[in-house]
Amino acid sequence: MRMRFLAPFVLSAVFLAACGGGQNTEKKEEAASEAPADNSMVKAGAAEAAASKGAALIEQKDCKTCHKVDMKLVGPGYKEVAAKYEATDANIDMLVDKIISGGSGHWGEVAMLPHPDLPKDDAKEMVKYILSLK
Ligand code: HEC
Repeated sequence: MRMRFLAPFVLSAVFLAACGGGQNTEKKEEAASEAPADNSMVKAGAAEAAASKGAALIEQKDCKTCHKVDMKLVGPGYKEVAAKYEATDANIDMLVDKIISGGSGHWGEVAMLPHPDLPKDDAKEMVKYILSLK
């Protein structure tokens, strides 16, 4: 029971640590010793990634109607996607095709709309950004 109440505090401590430049491991360890939280989805670096070209492209398109970084909306959260796939060339190509052609099956029954007008290079920047959100 005690853990349950601690969890929000631990998470916010980790978020603060992540925003403070990511080098502040002291706080993270302190938090981790109180409760073994799964921090694998919460890491520093998201701030730099957010400034990337892929992030800007995603902003300009319809992606945000169905996707958020931290949580599932119509489609999976980008961090979930990043956790699922390693940033290998094969995975990047597969995800680029998926964004352009649309489809379902990897996360459930709901399909992603196709984006046939999206240039491959742009889709690639988006995927690289998404997979950097680990
Ligand atoms: C109409 C809602 C919708 C829009 C708009 C949308 N998506 Fe998706 N997206 C989905 C759904 C639903 C899935 C899960 C598909 C599945 O289960 O295979 C998904 C899956 C994904 C995946 C993971 C694919 C996989 O095979 O695991 C990526 C990456 C992605 N979307 C990126 C984008 C980007 C980038 C854009 C903007 C160009 C975008 N999405 C626009 C609904 C959407």
